[in-house]
Amino acid sequence: MDRRTFLNLGGMTFLASAMPKTLFASQTSTPSVLTAEVTHTNILGSGYPGTDVWSFNAGIPGPALRIPLGQRVDVRLDNRLSVPTSVHWHGIRLPNAMDGVAGLTQKAVLPGESFQYGFTPPDAGTFWYHSHLNASEQVDRGLYGPLIISEPNPPKVDRDLVWMIDDWRLLEDGSISDDFGAGHDWSHAGRIGNVPTINGRYGESVRVRSGERLRLRLINAANARTFALDFQDLNPQVIAVDGQPVTPYQPTGPIVIGAAGRVDVILDMIASPESESSVLDTAYRDPFELTRFVYDKEPIRETSLDTPIALDPPTLPEPDLKNAISQDVVIGGGAMGGLRRAMLNGQWMGLREISQQGYVWAINDTVANKLDMPPLIDVPRGTSVKLKIENQTAFPHPMHLHGHHMKLLSVDGSAASDTRWVDSPLLLPEQRMELAFVADNPGDWLFHCHALEHHAAGLGALVRIT
Ligand code: C2O
Ligand code: CU
Repeated sequence: MDRRTFLNLGGMTFLASAMPKTLFASQTSTPSVLTAEVTHTNILGSGYPGTDVWSFNAGIPGPALRIPLGQRVDVRLDNRLSVPTSVHWHGIRLPNAMDGVAGLTQKAVLPGESFQYGFTPPDAGTFWYHSHLNASEQVDRGLYGPLIISEPNPPKVDRDLVWMIDDWRLLEDGSISDDFGAGHDWSHAGRIGNVPTINGRYGESVRVRSGERLRLRLINAANARTFALDFQDLNPQVIAVDGQPVTPYQPTGPIVIGAAGRVDVILDMIASPESESSVLDTAYRDPFELTRFVYDKEPIRETSLDTPIALDPPTLPEPDLKNAISQDVVIGGGAMGGLRRAMLNGQWMGLREISQQGYVWAINDTVANKLDMPPLIDVPRGTSVKLKIENQTAFPHPMHLHGHHMKLLSVDGSAASDTRWVDSPLLLPEQRMELAFVADNPGDWLFHCHALEHHAAGLGALVRIT
């Protein structure tokens, strides 16, 4: 495998060194303050130039907040950046005022100011937090971190690891390419980087012991990149998707995670001591090695554990499909799409006129040019809502609903075979998906594409629950 192929994307070249054998540092204590600040970090590894990033608490990712289920999350955001920001708690069913969408659920937190967040998450699982103001730039520059709500009875594992996966668009001097408004990114697949990282590091391996059982919490923090992880000879068992438990299963192909998505897997390290195995990404034309497991000399045990791995089932309200209101959601626009005209600010306009104002996407022929648009859905609390989403574009869209989880009903007309709840389902080009949820959380909630450039270019809507 030629890692330089990947690194050459966009005409930018890095020569990759051999993977150093480094153990990812694990974070233990949970801070009560998140400070958004500029920091200098080394993404590319020693011997390569460093990178100025925007971080929470000087780390990429920000500190892992690990909170037992039932306990309150109390975190103050201190903004020491020179731009306003906010923190969104992705996937958490929390009160609207704590959702962190600057300009919709709260005012932007200005430089030098603070904001106190406090809520009690109702679900255990793998979530994350990130900036929700000018997110396509702020998340890209590093304003994100893991939020882990731990189960009272988790499956027995030797280590519980978080992998926040991202991709960075770095120049040869190590700096972040600042072409954030690039029209091509906005109208195509979003901002795809040239340096893939796990927990803010490129090209580091992961030390393991044979016989060891890992719980791997995969979080896709990239602006737009889809990851498709191939664990080769290992047999990952998926135990949760988007934070919500599923009946454990072994995927037939690579593990696909759209932007903002999460997948929890149980991984038994079955190879022999002192061997190595690659984790490949196969989402795009050129597969590359994301990381590599390096086995210690000493096994942890002779045969892998065979204790149960299933999590307790989700405790989400079951939508009443008989009485649900049904809402079509047609995603249109983008390059090579069929969109000819759409509504912008209440007026029909041709695509050229719309794109002159920086927008290229629409839901039901309506461009989301601001957060407080007339709602796509406006229902009283308790209503069951069925979404029939159709992606009529040439690009994938991870569609995120704030404040709720949606039950997956069908994909391209075939019924889901198992129960699955999602908050950021990835809709492939031309794909159709039916989902349902109980609109039980009052407030104005965003429903938007988490390819952050797509959202910035109009792919969003509002769900109002009164
Ligand atoms: Cu991950 Cu609108 O957010
Ligand atoms: Cu999109």
